Amino acid sequence: MDILDKIKQSREEEERLKWRGTFREYLELVKENPHIAQTAHSRIYNMIKDAGVIERDRKKMYKFFSDEIFGLEDALEKLVEEYFHSAAKRLDVKKRILLLMGPVSGGKSTIVTLLKRGLEKYSYTDAGAVYAIEGCPMHEDPLHLIPPHLRDDFYEEYGIRIEGHLSPLNMMRLEKEYGGRIEDVMVERIFFSEDKRVGIGTFSPSDPKSQDIADLTGSIDFSTIAEYGSESDPRAYRFDGELNKANRGMMEFQEMLKCDEKFLWHLLSLTQEGNFKAGRFALISADELIVAHTNEAEYKSFIANKKNEALQSRMIVMNIPYNLKVSDEERIYEKMIRESDMAHVHIAPHALRTAAIFSVLTRLKEPKKQNIDLVKKMRLYDGEEVEGFKDQDVEELKKEYPDEGMDGIDPRYVINRISSAIIRKDVSSINALDVLRSLKDGLDQHPSISDEDKERYLDFISIARKEYDDIAKKEVQKAFVYSYEESAKTLLNNYLDNVEAYCNKTTMTDPLTGEEMKPDEKLMRSIEEQIGISENAKRAFREEILIRISAYARKGKKFDYNSHERLREAIQQKLFADLKDVVKITTSTKTPDESQLKKINEVIARLIDEHGYNSVSANELLRYVGSLLNR
Ligand SMILES: Nc1ncnc2c1ncn2[C@@H]1O[C@H](COP(=O)(O)OP(=O)(O)OP(=O)(O)O)[C@@H](O)[C@H]1O
Ligand SMILES: [Mg+2]
Repeated sequence: MDILDKIKQSREEEERLKWRGTFREYLELVKENPHIAQTAHSRIYNMIKDAGVIERDRKKMYKFFSDEIFGLEDALEKLVEEYFHSAAKRLDVKKRILLLMGPVSGGKSTIVTLLKRGLEKYSYTDAGAVYAIEGCPMHEDPLHLIPPHLRDDFYEEYGIRIEGHLSPLNMMRLEKEYGGRIEDVMVERIFFSEDKRVGIGTFSPSDPKSQDIADLTGSIDFSTIAEYGSESDPRAYRFDGELNKANRGMMEFQEMLKCDEKFLWHLLSLTQEGNFKAGRFALISADELIVAHTNEAEYKSFIANKKNEALQSRMIVMNIPYNLKVSDEERIYEKMIRESDMAHVHIAPHALRTAAIFSVLTRLKEPKKQNIDLVKKMRLYDGEEVEGFKDQDVEELKKEYPDEGMDGIDPRYVINRISSAIIRKDVSSINALDVLRSLKDGLDQHPSISDEDKERYLDFISIARKEYDDIAKKEVQKAFVYSYEESAKTLLNNYLDNVEAYCNKTTMTDPLTGEEMKPDEKLMRSIEEQIGISENAKRAFREEILIRISAYARKGKKFDYNSHERLREAIQQKLFADLKDVVKITTSTKTPDESQLKKINEVIARLIDEHGYNSVSANELLRYVGSLLNR
């Protein structure tokens, strides 16, 4: 289908969804689908829930956010449950302004944008359908037409509680256009659209001297006063402020805390009674989510001002910290690069991970527990297994600092530095070392890094570099082994056979000659020594392995190369140790002979075909690892 067909199809779809009818007909719809009369907050909550929720380890992950926001599961769960869920139940919470507080470029705007775009789409679905009084600039809820004294009866019949009263404009229209016959008032289905100013608004304060409150609450239309005879005729008023236009949906209040006081006063009644004042009219009920964002410093200075006390108690503050998981940080960079003009650049494997290690380290707080350092904490947070620690330890670590992640290096800085590394290098291929160098060089120009932080950050650059060195060495060594996985498996099985015979005091049968033979002590030790297991400790280690194997067997799981962290490390080291000289000589020789050249080409081909390198980055990697091994 080409684009013109698609345009046509989407227009037809929109036509199909349109609905227009009298209030009487609308009530029929409500009877069948009571959800169309839900409040804005409830609609937003259902939108998030309808997208799907995955529950894991008693934690919820919302699919609504999970393609765009990474690593903030805890913060999002709190946001959805404590704010949206409570607000959906018509608790007072929904009158409160939602204030997202977090460090720069930590995803606050992204979350708000997701909600806006999500609502636009949701309003086209059956579950998210919204109806409004036709021709009303504020898309007023048709149920407001039901007079207050009949609302209890309405509740009896429909099970729906109506909040808010009919606006002055519709009150007048009801009289003038419909002669007071509520059942004849025309209702239509509306579709949210920020561009068309339906149900989604954004207010951003400009110069306080010139900004007009009209941007928020609308203004008198002087051209029509003559026609209607008076300023207090609601038909002579333009209800086109952001608060008006966002009714039924949401309004983003940018830089709210920087805003002039007179703007904030309007919010006071909104957050208290759920209504606001426009022109000379009675209060106007608003049914909308108001969301603002700020950083910690700004928030602190806001609450330090006594005058703001009233408003402060009417906001619900949710922390949106930085992500603290290395793997998720990597995904954030991948996403940002995909969306940038760098999408065509080759970024060598592990370059983003190395940068992510650095950023996450700058955000973590030193653990209070003994026997754990920052690097181990970083691994635990990322869900890696760390010898001697359990899942429970991760929860305890998190509890040590409930507000962790509110400072450190931000993702945008990293992306900017990657971009400047690309500019500096004339080939469009960059590796981990280029990125680290650029991150380091940029620290001097970073506006908000103190000298003390800078010292710490430089240490983290070295740690990230060490982590990368390990990864790089392993990558090359693996590429040298003809079939790495196969070799590791064979060596492991061989070791396990011997360990079993050793512990059970039995002999083994030589597969070739059929002869009985004793376990191969030399082989076992050559593996165990790789991870520093002493002669005295070997028995305990071997028994531990056997216990692990039988525990696996009991659960019907297969014990393999990845089942025991330290054993895997030992096997890997052993394979690499056997190769060490070959790798060292081959990667560092300036004048390779024919067989070395063949080997190099083979390794490069493997790096490209199986590990995601290109020829530039594969050659750079080999040269770097050669220099590491020769230190
Ligand atoms: N946890 C995260 N998951 C996915 N993307 C993220 C995350 N944190 C930041 N980003 C990305 O970083 C960039 C900056 O995020 P965003 O603009 O939403 O931050 P912000 O908190 O609004 O920052 P500011 O305070 O500067 O306005 C965006 O491209 C966003 O997608
Ligand atoms: Mg922002």
